[in-house]
Amino acid sequence: MFLRNYWYVAAYDHEIGRRPLGRIILGEPIVFYRLEDGTPVALEDRCAHRHLPLSMGTLVGDTLQCHYHGLRYDKTGTCVRVPGQDTIPRSARVKNYPVVERYHWLWIWMGDPALADPDKIPDFHWFDDPNWGAKGEYLHVKGNWQLVVDNLLDLTHLAFVHGTTIGNPALVEQAQVKVQRTEDGVTVTRWIVDAPPPPTFVKAGGFTSNVDRWQIINFTPPAFLRLDVGATPTGTGAPEGKRVGGIGMWNLNAITPETETTSHYFWGQAHNFDVKNPKTTDMLIEQIRTAFLEDVAVFEAQQRNLLMIPNPPQTDINADAGVIQARRILDRLYHEEQAAAAKMAAAE
Ligand code: FES
Ligand SMILES: [Fe+2]
Repeated sequence: MFLRNYWYVAAYDHEIGRRPLGRIILGEPIVFYRLEDGTPVALEDRCAHRHLPLSMGTLVGDTLQCHYHGLRYDKTGTCVRVPGQDTIPRSARVKNYPVVERYHWLWIWMGDPALADPDKIPDFHWFDDPNWGAKGEYLHVKGNWQLVVDNLLDLTHLAFVHGTTIGNPALVEQAQVKVQRTEDGVTVTRWIVDAPPPPTFVKAGGFTSNVDRWQIINFTPPAFLRLDVGATPTGTGAPEGKRVGGIGMWNLNAITPETETTSHYFWGQAHNFDVKNPKTTDMLIEQIRTAFLEDVAVFEAQQRNLLMIPNPPQTDINADAGVIQARRILDRLYHEEQAAAAKMAAAE
């Protein structure tokens, strides 16, 4: 199940250059490159002649030349040269995708190009904001994208999967949790008041006694999860809205389906303390990376079972409240897109 009329993160800006990059997104092979003036381009990664990935080709000026028989395509995906002949067949063209560079990511629109409005790109300004230290990373996941969304909406797993970094038992046993529908998504708010800080927080915040810790998970479809997390010493008023003397971070996640059973996982961490110290950013990234690799092992093991037994029965528990809401939203959006596409097809 893919939602098409959305922006997705396709790559980091530094991954796209004058050497074509092939990447599968929503099951479609796509080639990315930059024109001589730096403008990014995304085209279908399949030559109209005999299907070779164009990402195996080379750039000649602003045209992309197929590695096999040398057809050249312009930035719109139209063939502009066939070696050895003067006429160019009308069918010699490949699909072009709208792209936008923002927050050090290259965003791609996978649906109807007429609907590609850059204003719909979700806010990830922390990557550019001087008030925050921040850095992003990438993980490839051999698991369906919704497994990653589920994981970030139910943080009770931190107590079991991430005991050496960001988790401890208080997260499950002591948390006050609220699940709310927002205009287009879900917010899960978790407060863990007067509990020992987990190892990463001790490292980052230097806490020596109990803390009040918050995890506010903002989900927007199809797969953006922005987590406002942090802690202050217990009794300093964080649950009442005063955040002083502690640490605040945003854990930023954009998941892009690669296929039905694999995903591109773009994530990053921003912090509001020690902002200009890259060592602090690196330390946090390292801690979160350790935790996320533990998650990836979980997703891949889940996916292996789901490949053997598709759609097995499953049990829900209270901690699934946010996950269930998000799945409902995604199912509804999927059926709406399918119905709209069927209507369009019938009208044609
Ligand atoms: S397959 Fe691309 S030119 Fe023949
Ligand atoms: Fe996790």
